[in-house]
Amino acid sequence: MSRQRPLICGNWKLHHSVAQSRLAIKQLQTHLQSTPIQVAIAPVAVALESSCRMAKSKHTTPIDIAAQNVFHAPQGAFTGEWSVQHLRELGCTFALVGHSERRQLFGESDALVARKVEACLQKGITPIACIGESSQQHQQGEAHIVLKKQLTSMLQPLSSRLASRLVIAYEPVWAIGTGQAAQPQQIQDTLAFVRLLIQRLQGPHVAQQVRLLYGGSVSKNNAYAFMQQPHIDGLLVGGASLHAHTFIQVIQQAHKGWLAAK
Ligand code: PGA
Repeated sequence: MSRQRPLICGNWKLHHSVAQSRLAIKQLQTHLQSTPIQVAIAPVAVALESSCRMAKSKHTTPIDIAAQNVFHAPQGAFTGEWSVQHLRELGCTFALVGHSERRQLFGESDALVARKVEACLQKGITPIACIGESSQQHQQGEAHIVLKKQLTSMLQPLSSRLASRLVIAYEPVWAIGTGQAAQPQQIQDTLAFVRLLIQRLQGPHVAQQVRLLYGGSVSKNNAYAFMQQPHIDGLLVGGASLHAHTFIQVIQQAHKGWLAAK
């Protein structure tokens, strides 16, 4: 159990043109009221520069910018990639790493995800490392086995100083984009297992510090119940983050749920 500052990150995936991203950020900045919740959005890569520039403007509620992906090497013959240093240069705070779409559609292995996580932590970008079981693994009762494998490869190489800054997003693949979110109690139980595993691998201090998010069909209707769960420190939101007004409703509901559980 931990009561870290909550984080809510919108994952815009391959949606929104650069101009639409700018507009959505502007709307967020206009309508989002000051909140203790740390709010981030992950726009498409080519909109990162303008998004970071907008996010730096004073006089608005702070929004952090996350990349949806990053490569672990600092430079070299890696056509099509960008590095953690590039994200630093732009002013990003976070990078999503190992999202299930990267794992499934682009063949990212646990080993590659672990290298990206470590590179981010070493160079001052906070990775939001995604883990989660597929529908088949879920049905066969293998969720804990899958999560243990994903977490172990990620956590084992890290010093506890680096590991404590990690954000982990539990996103069961069967809940992503389906409208079938996991049940709050089910997430709470899974994250209790995740925290126990972190404790075994990295000790109790790190287990307290790591922020655990839930993602998968989060909406304004379920955000309150999720944030009431003591192990849930935040949310990774896909579809419901695309429009500023719905995303703000998710943030407001999450804030209320978090306060009610305090
Ligand atoms: P969803 O996506 O909220 O649309 O299910 C979540 C994600 O893929 O991060």
